[in-house]
Amino acid sequence: MLPINSLKLGAFLGLAAFAPAVDASGSDCRCFPGDQCWPSLSTWDAFNQSVNGRLVATVPLATPCHTPNYNSEKCEVLKDGWLLPEEHYKSSSSFMAPFFTNGTCDPYHPVSKPCTLGNFVRYAVNVSESSHVAKTLQFATEHNIRFIIRNTGHDYNGKSTGAGALSVWTHHLKGLEFKDWKDKYYTGKALKMGAGIQGIEAYEAAQAQGLRIVSGECPTVGIAGGYSQGGGHSALSSRYGLGADQVLEWEVIDGNGRFLVANRQQNTDLFWALCGGGGGTYGVVWSMTSKAHADGQVSGLNLTFTTSGISDDTFFEAVEFYNTRLPSIVDEGVMSLNFLTNTSFSISPMTGPDVPLKKLKSLIEPVLNELKRLGITYTYQAEEFGSYLEQFNAQVPLVEVGVAQYGSWLLPRSIVTNLSTNRELTQSIRTVLGQHATFTTVAINVAKNVTGDVYNAVNPAWRTAIAHVLMSTPWEFNEPEQMAENRKLMTDLLVPSISKLAPESGAYLNECDFDQPNWKKAFYGKNYNDLLAIKSKYDPHSLFYGLTAVGSDEWTVSNSGRMCRVATASGEN
Ligand SMILES: Cc1cc2nc3c(=O)[nH]c(=O)nc-3n(C[C@H](O)[C@H](O)[C@H](O)COP(=O)(O)OP(=O)(O)OC[C@H]3O[C@@H](n4cnc5c(N)ncnc54)[C@H](O)[C@@H]3O)c2cc1C
Ligand SMILES: *[C@@H]1O[C@H](CO)[C@@H](O)[C@H](O)[C@H]1NC(C)=O
Ligand SMILES: *[C@@H]1O[C@H](CO)[C@@H](O)[C@H](O)[C@H]1NC(C)=O
Ligand SMILES: *[C@@H]1O[C@H](CO)[C@@H](O)[C@H](O)[C@H]1NC(C)=O
Ligand SMILES: *[C@@H]1O[C@H](CO)[C@@H](O)[C@H](O)[C@H]1NC(C)=O
Ligand SMILES: *[C@@H]1O[C@H](CO)[C@@H](O)[C@H](O)[C@H]1NC(C)=O
Ligand SMILES: *[C@@H]1O[C@H](CO)[C@@H](O)[C@H](O)[C@H]1NC(C)=O
Ligand SMILES: *[C@@H]1O[C@H](CO)[C@@H](O)[C@H](O)[C@H]1NC(C)=O
Repeated sequence: MLPINSLKLGAFLGLAAFAPAVDASGSDCRCFPGDQCWPSLSTWDAFNQSVNGRLVATVPLATPCHTPNYNSEKCEVLKDGWLLPEEHYKSSSSFMAPFFTNGTCDPYHPVSKPCTLGNFVRYAVNVSESSHVAKTLQFATEHNIRFIIRNTGHDYNGKSTGAGALSVWTHHLKGLEFKDWKDKYYTGKALKMGAGIQGIEAYEAAQAQGLRIVSGECPTVGIAGGYSQGGGHSALSSRYGLGADQVLEWEVIDGNGRFLVANRQQNTDLFWALCGGGGGTYGVVWSMTSKAHADGQVSGLNLTFTTSGISDDTFFEAVEFYNTRLPSIVDEGVMSLNFLTNTSFSISPMTGPDVPLKKLKSLIEPVLNELKRLGITYTYQAEEFGSYLEQFNAQVPLVEVGVAQYGSWLLPRSIVTNLSTNRELTQSIRTVLGQHATFTTVAINVAKNVTGDVYNAVNPAWRTAIAHVLMSTPWEFNEPEQMAENRKLMTDLLVPSISKLAPESGAYLNECDFDQPNWKKAFYGKNYNDLLAIKSKYDPHSLFYGLTAVGSDEWTVSNSGRMCRVATASGEN
């Protein structure tokens, strides 16, 4: 059992206790724009003043792409950048997961289709002080308005967006402070980061101090946001563990508007939940303090071959052999990122922090020998770099957004160490690629012997996994029927073809199929009920909601965007 702390109040923000979320009409739905209960403009103005004029009314990014505001020049620029994270994270409302844009305003739909707010938040508060967060929570509670925490808008499950919502926008919280940390569990360097800090900002600041920080392959994900709160895999993970394993302390504003410090000494239950239990669920994180590790030499390699000139059977023989090598690779502290399509194999890259180049080469050598034996030609480059950031900049490929729909599963190590189940895995991969989907293998070891003494809510399936495998089907903005079919294909065929090999495992909640059946068990494992109890304690008004987040099944969101409580068994339907 998880120890649930008695409430320890941090700095109280001088607010009266919040009113419970009951709207005037007595309905169990969030107040929606256009409803009688929706605040008047003067009420919004007064709120705006109370947050120092930081309230931003949403104007969707792609407004210049639609009538009556069409501007071909501006729209072309938007279209050129639409598949890059940069375009979206700078905005107070835009987001990257294409499914949730619902075609209401993007550069791909006809100019004649007017731009509507759809799933974009109505208002964002560009917070710079923690009191702005508390006041926004209070306003949303009093007026029964859907509340959202938005950082970068990277979330694949649309958790940082919502129709008719008021959001706190954390992007401009860019504080950075290096510290020396000492407690029973960790002694060493640490970096305290504001909630808006993105991967590359931490990488650069850390490198300047001779340090390295765990964050993602995408340089712009929010470390203190959904990344570390949801788990967070990294090229450094086989060396230090997941993002959530790095966290030493959170500063957080809970659902009552209280500013709390959560670590292993105080508010320990909240600390536990925030480390891996999913973003946007337990409170608004104000800062996160992460372990910072000594930087140094990093070796990296990439390897590519295609089906050209060889049979499919030969190609998959090579794939199968590579998978048998994964344990020996990750056990040296190495992370390997492998992309498969129906015609190509590429490792891009394999990263060995503190692994000498010679050692890294020896880990891939058996694979190269097998390729030679099979008569497969390949391109291969291996190099040693002076720091993690140098290797990252040289070898990590650009990641596009808005190009795919995803599903995933955590593959247990036992699958690839057993020749017979590894062969079944190859069959499953062939099934997936046969549907023209892609198959990505993020091979890491984040077992106890790597993470050290950590206390967190990371999905336990990670600890026995050899890889997080991610499948994707291509996204087209103007093909809603085909996209719906692809979603079904993911849920009904692609994910099950892998999950059937290890049904007791689970999936990474940040990169998954949001239609995953049995998602509570798949995304949270045995932690779900404890997480729900912690959420109820820190979020008594049920303000925090995100698709597939803990407790989210207490709500439904209709096609039009209206969010309502699910009627209890005794209620009407
Ligand atoms: C291109 C791309 C590459 C990626 N690469 C990786 C990778 O290498 N490794 C990996 O593990 N994941 C990766 N991800 C997934 C990424 O970790 C998740 O999308 C994550 O949710 C992003 O967090 P964010 O805060 O940047 O995004 P947002 O979309 O802004 O927020 C995500 C979730 O976190 C919540 N949240 C944000 N800020 C706060 C806060 N201050 N307090 C409380 N809740 C908050 C939001 O409410 C939402 O639920 C990638 C995603 C993309 C799009
Ligand atoms: C909030 O106030 C600021 C400063 O007065 C103003 O610039 C901004 O437009 C206001 N926001 C809204 C939504 O009215
Ligand atoms: C999503 O699109 C559908 C179909 O156009 C529409 O009926 C629905 O209202 C939209 N929902 C939102 C939240 O925009
Ligand atoms: C948000 O606030 C930051 C400063 O905290 C400011 O630089 C930025 O321009 C603001 N953005 C918007 C859209 O209000
Ligand atoms: C961790 O455990 C695995 C599996 O038992 C083992 O193979 C590996 O060498 C260990 N790694 C470290 C860093 O001790
Ligand atoms: C492979 O790595 C080298 C550096 O070692 C880099 O120059 C090259 O661009 C990388 N290739 C790919 C396809 O990423
Ligand atoms: C390998 O997997 C097969 C099929 O699941 C199983 O029957 C066999 O016992 C396993 N072998 C070992 C050594 O675990
Ligand atoms: C591979 O997939 C692509 C789509 O991604 C498809 O056009 C092509 O026909 C497929 N090729 C084979 C050999 O299956």
